[in-house]
Amino acid sequence: MPDSSKSAVVTSALPYANGEIHLGHIASTYLPADIFTRFSRLSGIKAYHICATDDFGTPILIMAEKDKKSPEEYVALWNRRDHEDFSSLGISFDFFYKTSSKENVEFVQYVFKKLRENGHIYDQNVIQFYCTFDDKFLPDRYVIGKCPYCGAENQYSDLCEKCGRVPDQILEPKCAICGRPPVKKESRHHFFRLSSFGQRLKEWLSTNQNLQPEVRNYVINWINEGLQDWDITRDLSWGVPIPETKGKVFYGWFDNHLCYISSLVKFVSDNGGNGKKVWNESDVYHFIGKDIVYHHYLFLPAMRLGIDSEYKLPDCIPTRGHLMLQNQKISKSRNWYIGLRDFTSAFNPDYLRFYIASVVTYSQDDLNFDFDAFYARINNELIANVGNFVNRALSFTQKSFGGRVPEPAGIDDSLGKELAAAVDEAGALLSCNEIDKALKRILKYSSYMNQYFQASAPWANNDTANTTLYVSLNAVRSLAILLEPYVPFSCEKIWSQLKLGGSVHEQTWESAKEISAVAPGHELDRVEPIFRKIEAKEIEQWKNKLGKP
Ligand code: 2FM
Ligand code: ZN
Repeated sequence: MPDSSKSAVVTSALPYANGEIHLGHIASTYLPADIFTRFSRLSGIKAYHICATDDFGTPILIMAEKDKKSPEEYVALWNRRDHEDFSSLGISFDFFYKTSSKENVEFVQYVFKKLRENGHIYDQNVIQFYCTFDDKFLPDRYVIGKCPYCGAENQYSDLCEKCGRVPDQILEPKCAICGRPPVKKESRHHFFRLSSFGQRLKEWLSTNQNLQPEVRNYVINWINEGLQDWDITRDLSWGVPIPETKGKVFYGWFDNHLCYISSLVKFVSDNGGNGKKVWNESDVYHFIGKDIVYHHYLFLPAMRLGIDSEYKLPDCIPTRGHLMLQNQKISKSRNWYIGLRDFTSAFNPDYLRFYIASVVTYSQDDLNFDFDAFYARINNELIANVGNFVNRALSFTQKSFGGRVPEPAGIDDSLGKELAAAVDEAGALLSCNEIDKALKRILKYSSYMNQYFQASAPWANNDTANTTLYVSLNAVRSLAILLEPYVPFSCEKIWSQLKLGGSVHEQTWESAKEISAVAPGHELDRVEPIFRKIEAKEIEQWKNKLGKP
């Protein structure tokens, strides 16, 4: 079990402030991080779940220009929307901030100065595309052209969306703003000496036992192949300004992960604490999707080492695969895509949480959102197993005992043992991030209680009905606590129907082992079904909404 004298800083990768949150983001990062944070809180750990929008970078600038908004206005809009979307799914951030905050800008500049003093930065001239018409350097997405690998037209100079490669030398380059061919111009850039950190990174990777071995191994292979120094300058105006250098800003990946630290520090100090102390005394977890392994396993730790580990390196970087939709790659442009907002306005947000949690492995394997499997999991597991048991116990008490918990007469030892085993085993799995396996273990306990209820047949056995209901109502309470990290909205409803006072979110994991917390004579609140079955036609409608894969 986690050590409850500890605190934990949990970060979720920062979404770019340029588009709505979709199911892919949720599955690889935000939901696993939220389940883990909720479990940590129930385990008595002081947990800080931190996130922010990633506000800088050329794609955002280009989209703001298209929308005829200033970049500040544009990112403020997405910051608000993203935060609302996350809240609607019960993603419980303690603080949701932004990379363009004053605190982050100052912190990034501080880190840069310290890296420079420590000899990790050097300057070099580079040749950049420049548009003489727009009078602008054209980094990354500002240049489009033909991919030299696959020949696809209209690709960005930093990523070919057709073949997935990064074109070194884009062919027939054009300015993304005015379409004119750019010229080449020299610009002086700062470089971060990533290459000199190979040995130290290898040591860190091989001694940190919390990292997933398969990721660790391929990152070590990258180091063995040789690390390239890293151009951290962009000739743009939208970004963290480089101190003493007019008209240039830092590359987004230099500043964004520093926002994990600057946001935590702000949150803690706004609440009267010492942010640096909290960071360094906590277990630090960075939840990410597998596409940003390079940045989190190399850039991020190297930069922290480069500032003498003034802020500790991560203890764990839970990394998961991408979400496929009906076994096809998610693509917004082909409408093979589900926005979070649409989905949670049609279904109970807990249904999405439950389904994704039941398929999300602790690995880089891609997972799949399948509508038929979603339908089956919700109706046959969440509702037929958990919902059925909860509702039978509560409504039988209502109907046959006037809503009052009956007095038991001798409880079989095996019931308490079964519960304690479920609490311990699911807890052990959750503390090592095995979210899907822990859920299975909890559902096994719920099935066990369903069978107990069915076999005890309280409707036919007057003499044992009191004990059956007493045991079952206490098991309902335990299940509400155990499932809180997964389906928090529904567990709060169960909690309020049990009328136990307070909130399920404030309980402790260990207290789920109690078999007599719901006392005889206690009166329940009004009982109603917690869940609504999904209808087959709803699933068909959703399938029809998708475009072509
Ligand atoms: O890949 C992305 O979506 C980035 N915005 C993630 C940033 S995480 C960070 F800040 F390290
Ligand atoms: Zn131009």
